[in-house]
Amino acid sequence: MDLYTVLENRRSIRKYLPDPVETGTLRKLLEAARLAPSWKNGQCWRFLVIRDPEKRERLAAALPEMNPARKGMAEAPVTIVLCAKPEESERHEGKDYYLLDAGLAMQQLMLAAHAEGLGTCWVAWFDEEKIRRICSVPPEYRIVALTPLGVPARQPSPRGRKPLEEIAFLEEWGRPFN
Ligand SMILES: Cc1cc2nc3c(=O)[nH]c(=O)nc-3n(C[C@H](O)[C@H](O)[C@H](O)COP(=O)(O)O)c2cc1C
Repeated sequence: MDLYTVLENRRSIRKYLPDPVETGTLRKLLEAARLAPSWKNGQCWRFLVIRDPEKRERLAAALPEMNPARKGMAEAPVTIVLCAKPEESERHEGKDYYLLDAGLAMQQLMLAAHAEGLGTCWVAWFDEEKIRRICSVPPEYRIVALTPLGVPARQPSPRGRKPLEEIAFLEEWGRPFN
């Protein structure tokens, strides 16, 4: 699938079919994540792949009830937990680059998943300490995000985006790019 088609059609998927995800496909997705750029090539990311249904239920229960991704997390056959070790990245001028490093890797995984016909959904609203306990994540790692992974039950319609004129400027702040 062409990259622009992937970018245009990816959606946050919150409803899944029970169809399994093959180990070979998971490996491809993790390889896609591994290729991401990072601060000084520190590669602070770690990925936990959770297939065990009981563990996935517990992970879903670590999301607040109000989190719209909660139900889909329990439905999808795989949950991926994105962790990062801040020491393998850097805080530079007040900016924590481990979040950016880990986020880039996760997004690569998510785009690759879409190219494979699989759905994902960024989940960043959860109880970090509960997830740490469920997955035995060591204290030097932060848990940055989770995603369910599986075959989408449906393709949601696109969420709107701000128009280009509002977000892109030419040469100086406020001068529209067009
Ligand atoms: C950093 C981040 C955190 C997010 N956390 C959640 C979340 O906890 N629950 C959820 O349902 N969606 C979450 N989302 C998904 C966004 O709601 C979604 O990307 C946005 O509404 C645009 O929709 P789209 O991804 O289908 O284009 C998150 C997205 C990002 C980038």
